[in-house]
Amino acid sequence: MRLLVTGGAGFIGANFVHGAVAEHSVTVLDALTYAGSRESLAPVEDDIRLIQGDVGDAELVNRLVAESDAVVHFAAETHVDNALADPEPFLHTNVIGTYTVLEAVRQHGVRLHHISTDEVYGDLELDEPRRFTEGTAYNPSSPYSSTKAAADMLVRAWVRSYGVRATISNCSNNYGPYQHVEKFIPRQITNVLTGRRPKLYGTGANVRDWIHVDDHNSAVWRILLDGEIGRTYLIGAEGERDNLSVMRTILTLMGRDPDDFDHVVDRAGHDLRYAIDPSTLRDELGWEPKHTDFEDGLRATIDWYRNNESWWGPLKEQVEAVYEKRGQ
Ligand code: NAD
Ligand code: DAU
Repeated sequence: MRLLVTGGAGFIGANFVHGAVAEHSVTVLDALTYAGSRESLAPVEDDIRLIQGDVGDAELVNRLVAESDAVVHFAAETHVDNALADPEPFLHTNVIGTYTVLEAVRQHGVRLHHISTDEVYGDLELDEPRRFTEGTAYNPSSPYSSTKAAADMLVRAWVRSYGVRATISNCSNNYGPYQHVEKFIPRQITNVLTGRRPKLYGTGANVRDWIHVDDHNSAVWRILLDGEIGRTYLIGAEGERDNLSVMRTILTLMGRDPDDFDHVVDRAGHDLRYAIDPSTLRDELGWEPKHTDFEDGLRATIDWYRNNESWWGPLKEQVEAVYEKRGQ
């Protein structure tokens, strides 16, 4: 296939591209914002075409889509704390960017897979048995999740009104190599590696449903190849953990006292718990996650950050300076 991967220089997109090049011809469209990097694509640089550009640039997107058999749309502004500080880029990239992709695939009849998040469903109570399913009502809490929800709504409308051949997936929290050091797990690992104290928001009771990035991407492939047009699929690996436990596990795996961290100012409107019921994906498409031992996955991720300081080192000071200003 000739694949157009938007946001392919970011965390999940780069991991997706690494796995795609063996069998497919890949063009990456990425604005190379603070969150994207050429270095993340260095292992495959000779096998891909990397176009630096904005997913909201209709003329560019139209031209690239016309040359493609399928589009996998990862490009987004993705960090909740950044959205709280300045929502505008989230509206541009997540809403207008997705609209631009939709108009191009509509014009050229190209298959689209839209990457979304479980955050569109809002949050759950800690003790309720319910998890998110494909039928859960949208109830986003943050400027980030509301723009992702808007994008999902556009995709659904373009399928119904214009017959666009699109699928959507809503995945839970990813971890693994090449994740930006602004995010929870890489931030704490690199805090330890640079002699800083890890930072936990509030009490750390908030629960996230962790999945290894390779498992997310293997699910995306199942949906892209065999998913039913117009459908939404939820991707998760039954990896619920509260933030305090994840923090203590990271510290223990890194040979530190598990309580050697600081509690910092909580996130405004902080979603309490996310949890995905992945049974549709398993039952209908036969998908299974491979990284089922979270501690093993964390250990490998810690090793990756230990061995790749040249990738994250140049980003770290700036990220921590921004957090410090916010008291986090
Ligand atoms: P990321 O922030 O690491 O990467 C985003 C990429 O998009 C970057 O390379 C950035 O340069 C690019 N980009 C941003 N604005 C752009 C624009 N206007 N034009 C072109 N490119 C632009 O994000 P990620 O964590 O890899 O997330 C990828 C997708 O997966 C997003 O749609 C996100 O909502 C979704 N998602 C992420 C997670 C997670 O845990 N990280 C979970 C579920 C869903
Ligand atoms: O659920 C999927 C979502 O997961 C994706 O859609 C988002 O793009 C992705 O960023 C992620 O969102 P979260 O807000 O859950 O991830 P983040 O890594 O920012 O934070 C994870 C949890 O850890 C959250 O409860 C906030 C907390 N946290 C975060 C940071 C950065 C801390 O306690 N300390 C920190 O330093």
